[in-house]
Amino acid sequence: GALDLYWELDSTSSELQRRGIQAPDFSIVMAETQTAGRGRRGRTWLSPPGLNLYVSCLKRFEAGFAALSGLSLATGVIVLRALHALGIDGARLKWPNDVLADGGKLAGILVELSGEYQGPCAAIVGIGLNLRLTPALREQAGQAVCDLASLADGVPPDRNHMAAALITSLVEGLDQFEREGFAAFIDEYAGHDALCGIPLRISSAAGEFDGMGAGIDARGALQVQTANGMQCIDSADVTVRRA
Ligand code: BTN
Repeated sequence: GALDLYWELDSTSSELQRRGIQAPDFSIVMAETQTAGRGRRGRTWLSPPGLNLYVSCLKRFEAGFAALSGLSLATGVIVLRALHALGIDGARLKWPNDVLADGGKLAGILVELSGEYQGPCAAIVGIGLNLRLTPALREQAGQAVCDLASLADGVPPDRNHMAAALITSLVEGLDQFEREGFAAFIDEYAGHDALCGIPLRISSAAGEFDGMGAGIDARGALQVQTANGMQCIDSADVTVRRA
């Protein structure tokens, strides 16, 4: 697939959606700024120019999205690999797919699937990575955020180097996910799991409950140790309980 750079888009993921499921595998879209950057659960993703990275990649999977549980967790590992390639350690993964550092969100991941459950489908994987946040942006974010500058003593990595590492990791990682599935990512995920052994509050369709993070299972479900035994969570909002 080709790499297309834009000055401005509504959203890099929306651009790939418009191209549709027939777009070439590994079509990659980057934008300097997004006017309607999208986060999970209908949230917006602040996307000012000049500071951060906004990239989306389309990958087709012939087996359908039944086989794609774990893709968003694998994408978290893909972001970590790109950071490690530039010598940046210290980022952690918060299930299902936030990349955290110093307790704030360093990167957001949005995986959108279209097509069939057990037939050809396409995943659009979108990543927003904070290199440098201004005080105003931190304020606007409405949640704890972090940037690569604060992880690296005030000097973020060169933005072009970071973009290249991210795209390389994305292409290699999605190819590896297609061949080997989530199994190829699970150890790295577990090694950077921010929630393991941490008191959690889970808000899911089934209601709210508390427990201790106990890792993930082979499909990428969150395991939570509760008073009623181990629960496996496929989809929920998770917050860390403060003592
Ligand atoms: C989240 O944490 O809520 C996910 C945020 C994902 C943001 C990225 S930026 C590139 C791509 N284009 C979008 O509109 N969203 C994703």
